[in-house]
Amino acid sequence: MDQPRNRVFSGVQPTGNLHLGNYLGAIRHFVALQDTHECIYCVVDLHAITVWQDPKELAANTREVTAAYIAAGVDPKKHIIFNQSKVAAHAELAWILDCTARIGWLNRMTQFKEKAGKDREQASVGLYNYPVLMAADILAYRSTHVPVGEDQKQHLELARDVAKKFNNDYAEFGGQDFFPLPEPLILGAATRVMSLRDGTKKMSKSDPSDNSRITFNDSPEAIAQKIRKAQTDPDPLPETVEGLEGRAGADNLVGIYAALSGQTKDEVLAEFRGAQFSVFKPRLADLAVDKLSPMMAEMQRMLHNDQGYLDQVLADGAARARVIADPIVARVKELVGFI
Ligand code: AMP
Ligand code: TRP
Repeated sequence: MDQPRNRVFSGVQPTGNLHLGNYLGAIRHFVALQDTHECIYCVVDLHAITVWQDPKELAANTREVTAAYIAAGVDPKKHIIFNQSKVAAHAELAWILDCTARIGWLNRMTQFKEKAGKDREQASVGLYNYPVLMAADILAYRSTHVPVGEDQKQHLELARDVAKKFNNDYAEFGGQDFFPLPEPLILGAATRVMSLRDGTKKMSKSDPSDNSRITFNDSPEAIAQKIRKAQTDPDPLPETVEGLEGRAGADNLVGIYAALSGQTKDEVLAEFRGAQFSVFKPRLADLAVDKLSPMMAEMQRMLHNDQGYLDQVLADGAARARVIADPIVARVKELVGFI
């Protein structure tokens, strides 16, 4: 079985409120990797239901993420876009890897602790197992590279540990080096976009305040207004990145500007040092509207007029994903000793 050297896998949960953090931390890199890598982009609906999802909204949100991938520039003909529940290999491999991963490893996962909150007894078993399913997503394709935002770093480390232990456990039965150790790609100036209302909190789909995030449903006016209202401080912009320390809101907006303009934060500050936010924010708003609105409009167009096309992309992508994953999972079963 050939081991690809440049296979990218990543996923986004269809949980609604797709936002600027998802775009700058992940989706825009999905687009950029297409020229050099073989890419597989998943809408991870199995992950979504680790917390309750209304079935009608889950379906709509699955199409929303699909449309966002395509509107951002992922080519579903050259590469693969599909939803996770359509390819049985994910759930099947997850079970086997559940038996490889150790409880102690999962107990260290900070995202579980955050999402489960105080009442951990009431969290779903799936939420606890979430990182093992994520490892299965990646390893079912023997993927080599995984573009994600900063918050997924720990999960990627777990995926590497699972791959390592599996290879080791089955080494003498022919499993040595079977899974490549997937490399995280955490890229660019905005690997962790923060809330526009509180620069110390991550921009997130579940924040109750819609003003905390720029979403893919925002009109150009809404984008500009959210940026104008973003939390900052009274000081002008500093000369260097060091001067942003302790100024979370300011740091966040400079990072967003840098990511959208393809510059480093230092380059942005070289242009804007000494400027007040009353000057910087309108410039950022113009840039954001310029870069994001056409993509968002195209996404809305597909969602409203081209649902059949989106469903076709997912069905076609799933069929192509199965062709890759099925033989890999079949080989895993052989290694484990299933007959
Ligand atoms: P999720 O919405 O949790 O499925 O995340 C999808 C992708 O977006 C993952 O690669 C995340 O790491 C990334 N992501 C989510 N929130 C942010 C954020 N605030 N800043 C940067 N990347 C993010
Ligand atoms: N856990 C990721 C997130 O919430 C989504 C995800 C699921 C993923 N499976 C993946 C990302 C595999 C990369 C690779 O952001």
